[in-house]
Amino acid sequence: MEGAAEVLFSSWITEAARAAVLSGRGHGDAGVRAAERARLLASRSTNAGKKIEPRLASRHAEWMAEVAGAEEETGPLGWFFLQRLGMFVDAHSSVFLDEADSNRLRELSAPDEEAVAHAMASQGIPTPPPPEWPAVKEATPPGKVIARIGILGDPHIGLDFANRLIPAAIEDLNRENVDLSVTIGDLTQNGQDASFAAAKKILDGFDHPVALTLGNHDMWGGGDEPAGLERFTRHFSRKPFEVIEGNGVRLIALNSAIPQASPFPPFEMTAGRFTDEPNESVPGGRFSDEVKEWVQTLESDGPTFIALHHPPYPYLGLPPVLFGLDEESTQVLSDLLERTGAWGIICGHTHRSALYDLKGVPVIEVPCPKEWPFAYGVIDVSDEGWAFNLKPVTDRSLVEEGSSRTNVLFRRYARGPDEARASVFFRKGS
Ligand SMILES: [Fe+2]
Ligand SMILES: [Fe+2]
Repeated sequence: MEGAAEVLFSSWITEAARAAVLSGRGHGDAGVRAAERARLLASRSTNAGKKIEPRLASRHAEWMAEVAGAEEETGPLGWFFLQRLGMFVDAHSSVFLDEADSNRLRELSAPDEEAVAHAMASQGIPTPPPPEWPAVKEATPPGKVIARIGILGDPHIGLDFANRLIPAAIEDLNRENVDLSVTIGDLTQNGQDASFAAAKKILDGFDHPVALTLGNHDMWGGGDEPAGLERFTRHFSRKPFEVIEGNGVRLIALNSAIPQASPFPPFEMTAGRFTDEPNESVPGGRFSDEVKEWVQTLESDGPTFIALHHPPYPYLGLPPVLFGLDEESTQVLSDLLERTGAWGIICGHTHRSALYDLKGVPVIEVPCPKEWPFAYGVIDVSDEGWAFNLKPVTDRSLVEEGSSRTNVLFRRYARGPDEARASVFFRKGS
């Protein structure tokens, strides 16, 4: 993962999408330059062993256009976002390109950096909209509810705001009378020992069984070697993959986070460059041999849901493909779906709402509760199907505080379609 072919392929998807979206948004010259960048990256990706797939670029472009919005919706921020995606490509692809290619890419992107800076200075940066909840009609499942599952997206404990928001979300889940819950990775912001200690204390607040798994943020921990897995095991005395049950409903939590160093430092999107923070784990996911062996023991056994940190391949948010579960592990997940007859898959990692399917089984991405719209998920399982609802934490003062820092672009990113926040699913054959 994250070899030349994968990075160049991902970079090509971004540039091909930027070319379309920039032109559509009225930045014609920038779109033409992005198209030339895409042609160069297409050829280098193919040479490195990964042939381009235009349908992935089209799907990525749909996502990008939705986030960037039109000029009247996001002002200069939408253009800023599109331009910074280009800087992301410059920074990450240059490691795998020769100097001439790398220089050509930067030559083509340079005029946009200046133009965007000028637009931001002259039009001003839009202030965050007032606090709002992306309301949608509550989904109720068909038939009689047999169990409720609570879903806590990436907690990122260790950040001040998360340390205050997560206990409020857990209190809400306790009040919802859910039978079991799952916390889908990135338990901590940085994998440090003190953050795991704080996470243990906060997650002990659930008054019902909770399954835990890990995310990329948990895996490293600030030193020269990955320490997260050992810290998690020591503080929580359990493995980051397990099965829990409540009222005859089964939840399988899978660990997809890997303790592999990223070849890149963290990238600061606002600045458009790498930070000098220490390297962390790769953001992408993969199952370890231990997890792959363990899932072979799982068979069909009543209503089943699967939760893991990373969304399945091909993830087409940012950065495309690299950020999600890899292709091989996605095949393992598909086989597990078939073997267990699972009803749904729940993922975190992306800090947004999204809904799609893997082999006909619904996949729901649940946003990070410490970020807009400051919410947690509840699944109502019935004898005939299930319903998913995303619900705002009830502590309005925390929502208002967090909202005041959340600009329109992130809200567009996190919101997702209404169906991703409230949906009903019918059990196959019912
Ligand atoms: Fe996260
Ligand atoms: Fe993550």
